Amino acid sequence: MQKLIIKGSRELSGKISISGSKNATLPILAASILASHVKIKNIPLVKDIFTMIELLNFIGLKTNLIKKRNIIEISNKSENINTLAPYKLVKTMRAGVLVLGSLLTRYGKAKVSLPGGCAIGTRPVDLHLFALKKLGAKIKIKDGYILADAKNGLKGTIVRFPSISVGATENALLAAFKAKGRTILKNCAIEPEINDLIKFLKKLGANIYLKGRTIFISECKIHSPKVIHEVIFDRIELGTYMIAGALLAKKDLIIDKINPKIVKSEIDLLKKIGVQIIKKKNSLIIKKGKSLKKINIITKPYPGFPTDLQAQLMVLLTQAKGISKIKENIFENRFMHVPELKRMGANIEIKDKTAIIKGPTKLTGAEVMATDLRASVCLVLAGLIADNRTIINRIYHLDRGYEFLESKLKKCKAKIKRV
Ligand code: EPZ
Repeated sequence: MQKLIIKGSRELSGKISISGSKNATLPILAASILASHVKIKNIPLVKDIFTMIELLNFIGLKTNLIKKRNIIEISNKSENINTLAPYKLVKTMRAGVLVLGSLLTRYGKAKVSLPGGCAIGTRPVDLHLFALKKLGAKIKIKDGYILADAKNGLKGTIVRFPSISVGATENALLAAFKAKGRTILKNCAIEPEINDLIKFLKKLGANIYLKGRTIFISECKIHSPKVIHEVIFDRIELGTYMIAGALLAKKDLIIDKINPKIVKSEIDLLKKIGVQIIKKKNSLIIKKGKSLKKINIITKPYPGFPTDLQAQLMVLLTQAKGISKIKENIFENRFMHVPELKRMGANIEIKDKTAIIKGPTKLTGAEVMATDLRASVCLVLAGLIADNRTIINRIYHLDRGYEFLESKLKKCKAKIKRV
């Protein structure tokens, strides 16, 4: 099992380039089932992407990943297609459930493993199935699989989501792409990654537009077979390195290949805490604040503060003066990093779904264990500011979603190595 060894660093300075978004690439890979040839640029070389590519190969698409250029080419001649997403692939990468909408649209049937839960929660897919049924799919659950059927095609209708779900919105978009007539999806998630999927689908010929949390789709009749698309940057990776800079950048930490407008709420929040941030057209300059102020936040769907940055912000708040509160409102079990941070000296109590963080506290290195993708990167941030050495186990969680993490940090003077 690989580990990361991190020595408390005195400072971070230099330049970090942000990779393509994992959470935009995954639904776009699922959408490539609808096309005959796609070329996707700026994809992040992370484990979840490799697993999704394995799933597309299993289904029968031809994929050619050009790693050194972060490009993948996918062709789908629709020969011997296997409309099956097996448990072994979907259990490790839950977003595999997104092929459901595309397979139904293109082939009228799909057998997709229920993804099962993960460390942060049970991760149900009832909202996905709710939308597909409304669009006319016949859905059965058998032996842990979703058996979906729409041999006479799907029919446009109004679908109002009872609660906001990124994945369910994405699956509904893929299913509505060629549904007869018009579809109106209400109470949708509107994360930038969903916007990127919509951009991709429009290049494919989709008639889609977004107004507030409502998405209007009318049946796609003309199908452009070839699509070239460049994936949006990863706003969660960006937020992670902004917080790293807020913790350690005595001189400038420059973060580029981004669009600051997409992370307005995160920038405003960090400025409120006292972090110095200068916005440029495609980059940010981060400087450690004189002193960090306490703050209370609640994680919310976009454009609110993202749950995927909650663990990373918690590390920053251990260094803020006073008592801060973080309410995790999206997932039922996303405080698994707290016991590990407490072993490093953080002063955090959890009451109901709120973490109460007293700061500033000195963190000291320890041997800790990663539990999910974002919890593991929060331990990296803690290790960077802790005294002496931190050893992080189970870093396969990290490799699911952070491209070249060690080299990006090492280039900015961090003392981090993988063994
Ligand atoms: C996406 O997961 C992201 N993953 C998650 O990022 C992110 O944390 C999450 O959105 C919220 O922003 C990808 O995009 C691949 P949801 P998703 O459906 O779509 C409940 C990371 O670290 N729910 O918006 O699974 C659900 O349990 C990952 O990159 C239902 O009840 O999230 C949760 O409490 C972690 N029924 C809430 O809704 C459903 O059918 C939001 O989940 C679906 C979801």
